[in-house]
Amino acid sequence: MSKRRIEIAPSILSANFAFVGDAVNQINESGVPYVHLDVMDGSFVPPITFGAKLIKDIRPLSDLIFDVHLMIDAPERHIDEFADAGADIITIHAESTIHLSRLLSYIRSKGIKAGISIVPSTPVSQITPILELCDLVLVMTVNPGWGGQTLIQSCLDKVVELKEIREAEDYDFLISVDGGVNADTIQDVTTAGADIAVMGSAFFRESDKSAFIEKINTLVDESIR
Ligand code: DX5
Ligand code: ZN
Repeated sequence: MSKRRIEIAPSILSANFAFVGDAVNQINESGVPYVHLDVMDGSFVPPITFGAKLIKDIRPLSDLIFDVHLMIDAPERHIDEFADAGADIITIHAESTIHLSRLLSYIRSKGIKAGISIVPSTPVSQITPILELCDLVLVMTVNPGWGGQTLIQSCLDKVVELKEIREAEDYDFLISVDGGVNADTIQDVTTAGADIAVMGSAFFRESDKSAFIEKINTLVDESIR
């Protein structure tokens, strides 16, 4: 399999929600392909963020890939509304519901890419039977719920493991890493073999976002040389 360049997916979680449209425009202008959207329900994770209405409202502002990360219980109840809102990728948590293969197939049946995510305490072995149904695997490198946490290095071993399985089985899913990715950790994430790096606080604390993405791309280039 040819080497795919790691891409950055800024998360609006760390933006000021009073100016969420401006945040989407900043992502548009920064030269990245994804907008990462962290949906939290106050049950699967303690905080509540936003739902399909907000995604639908910001959808006309961007042609980028809307990467919707559902940190919610019973995600099967909400797939239709996130699909209708304009999600391009819907990622569900392996820990959030029982009938994962049915749900992943349902997401794909809507013409949307299906992702599975695992929290730090969930091993890759728990999702190996369903990897053939996945377009994306989101490896959480923090316990989900908040931006600005420290990346748990040992979780990057799962990226290596997933890459090996992908090659051995000739699967085609993308591997995304979420939590604590910044200029200090992007090289470790790249070296592990991720295709996508989600960035919340590291992206939004920068005033010049395009310059920051350029700096990150330089760090990525250095680590794959
Ligand atoms: C955490 C979310 C992340 C969050 C990452 O539960 O899933 O997407 O935005 O934020 P940072 O990059 O600040 O760790
Ligand atoms: Zn996320």
